[in-house]
Amino acid sequence: MSIPAHVAIIMDGNGRWAKQRGLPRVAGHRAGVEALRKTVRNAGEMGIAWLTVYAFSSENWSRPKSEVTDLMGLLKIFIRRDLAELHRNGVRVRVIGERDGLEVEIRTLLEEAEALTHQNRNLNLVIAFNYGGRDEIARAAKRIGEAVAAGTVDPAEISAETFANFLDTAGFPDPDLVIRTSGEMRLSNFLPWQTAYSEFLFLPCYWPDFGKADLEDAVRAYASRDRRYGGAPARDVAL
Ligand code: IPE
Ligand code: IPE
Ligand code: MG
Repeated sequence: MSIPAHVAIIMDGNGRWAKQRGLPRVAGHRAGVEALRKTVRNAGEMGIAWLTVYAFSSENWSRPKSEVTDLMGLLKIFIRRDLAELHRNGVRVRVIGERDGLEVEIRTLLEEAEALTHQNRNLNLVIAFNYGGRDEIARAAKRIGEAVAAGTVDPAEISAETFANFLDTAGFPDPDLVIRTSGEMRLSNFLPWQTAYSEFLFLPCYWPDFGKADLEDAVRAYASRDRRYGGAPARDVAL
C-alpha cells in the first residue's frame, strides 16, 4: 500500500466539539492539543515522513482577544511540555508562517524547538503558526524582488521551481494528502501553492475526536486514489 510521504492536516472543529459538550471553546482547543500529540505519535509509527499541521492562521487574529491568548498559551505549553519527548522520538520540528508580530517568548520557543531537533530524521513535524498562504506567497515575492534588486537573481530565471525556494516550505516535499476535519470543505488559506496536486479528504469528525483509526482510514483512502498530475489514467497507459 502506498503510504503518503507527506500528510497535511487542517485541525478544525475544536470550538464546535466544546460547544457540543457545553464547554468553553478553550476546552476544545486543549482537547485538540491532545489529538495532535496522538497524531504525531501515530504518524511516526505508520511511517509517514512529513506531517504538517495548521495550528494558527494569519486570519485567526480576528478572534476574540481571550481566545487568541488561549491559543498562544497552548502553543507555549505544547512546546514546553512535549519538546523533550519529540526530540527523544527523533522528530524534527519546523515552523512555517510569519514570525514578525509574534510575542518574543513564542518566537524564542519556536527557534529553540527547531534548533534542538534539527538533526532528527524520523518524522518532520511542520507547524503552520501565524501562517497564511497568500501572505507566504507575497513574502516570497518580496524576497525575490529584493534579490533581483541586489543583482543575485536574474528575473529571466524565475520559474515555479525557483519561486518555491523562496517560500517558507523551501526544500519540503509537497503534501500528498490534505485532511480537514469538522466537515468544512475549504482550504482557509492553507498551503495554496503546495497543494496544487494534493489529494483531499474532508472528514465530518471534529479535530479532538480524530484518532488512530481515522488516520489509518485516511491513508487507506489515499492509497485508492489515482494521481494523474495532468497525465492519462495509469490503467489506460498500461493497456
Ligand atoms: C480549530 O478549531 C482550531 C483553530 C482554528 C486554532 P476552531 O477553533 O476553528 O473550531 P470551530 O471551527 O469553531 O469549531
Ligand atoms: C483554519 O480553520 C485554521 C486552523 C485550523 C488553524 P478556521 O476555523 O480558522 O477556518 P474558517 O474560518 O472556518 O475558514
Ligand atoms: Mg474552525
